[in-house]
Amino acid sequence: MKILVTGGTGYIGSHTCVELIESGYEVVIIDNLSNSKIEVVERIKEITGKDVKFYEGDCIDKSFLIKIFSKEKIDAVIHFAGFKAVGESVSNPLKYYRNNLDSTITLLEVMNEFNCKKLVFSSSATVYGKPKSLPIKETFPLSTTNPYGTTKLIIEGILRDLYNSDNNWSIAILRYFNPIGAHKSGLIGENPNDIPNNLMPYIVKVASKELECLNIFGNDYNTKDGTGVRDYIHVVDLAKGHIKAIEKILNENGIDAYNLGTGNGYSVLEIVNAFQKVNNVKVNYKIVERRKGDIDACYADPSYAKEKLGFKTKYGIEDMCIDAYNFAKKFKEDN
Ligand code: WQD
Repeated sequence: MKILVTGGTGYIGSHTCVELIESGYEVVIIDNLSNSKIEVVERIKEITGKDVKFYEGDCIDKSFLIKIFSKEKIDAVIHFAGFKAVGESVSNPLKYYRNNLDSTITLLEVMNEFNCKKLVFSSSATVYGKPKSLPIKETFPLSTTNPYGTTKLIIEGILRDLYNSDNNWSIAILRYFNPIGAHKSGLIGENPNDIPNNLMPYIVKVASKELECLNIFGNDYNTKDGTGVRDYIHVVDLAKGHIKAIEKILNENGIDAYNLGTGNGYSVLEIVNAFQKVNNVKVNYKIVERRKGDIDACYADPSYAKEKLGFKTKYGIEDMCIDAYNFAKKFKEDN
């Protein structure tokens, strides 16, 4: 079985490629390298000992996609490619609507033309907005508070309309909570080029003395210690969730959405303290004002993904902290 992975040199994409190869699938990666490096392809080969095909290009380019589908017999697609910075989407919404929507519609058109109707789509817990209660179930109301999240919500609607127009499609929508950590080898991980938006990569850069101090955005939330609570999931667990989703769509038609989270909520201070403890390193921080758009708490009810996909997370917060730092240290050694 040959799986096309768009955005396959990215953080979650690369970890998913490793798990796909190790599960016996053939993998074809397309990526425009706008937020990742081509060296990741070699790292995937090094980890798995297997070959992986890579084509540099953009899903927005229909002729590029037609070339790939003509050359490779694709059985299913996992679609990661897209812009994903919440803050940037607020300051530049048209860039996000144009890129994320246009590239996805183009991909779906070409899949249709080549009668490839099996898709795993990378969505986000951000489609739940500020949840009325916790933990969050897939049946909760959907609403978004930023253009990035809105692109995900619109695409989920496009996929449902597509399935309703042609029941030969088989689509799994995966709503990620907060992926962190890295592959145990330290060869692939999260490596933002500039100042990180997200918590863990920022903590890693402070611990590595690349950045001075972590700003904790508010400690007056309605949470156990006042700092924001999130459902952090190890990126390898998240990648394995995609294997479960591929198995599902290869065996039956339909469309459904699944939360990929652990069901456990951790506060910012709990993450900082766990990171310091397991890595025996100091993380300087100071409390500053809240970040606009942040919510108090967000964590999943993982029971539906367990029931329908047989998905269960294995790694805890300490693994996530050890593996995130291990990648950063190894990456620094190698560069
Ligand atoms: C986590 C917690 C912050 C940075 C975002 C996107 C979401 C998904 C995951 C794509 C919050 C606090 C953070 C910092 C801090 N991405 N924080 N100082 O905002 O939950 O989710 O990434 O799908 O769509 O919204 O993740 O890591 O930015 O923040 O105090 O420097 O850490 O306030 O409580 P978030 P995050």
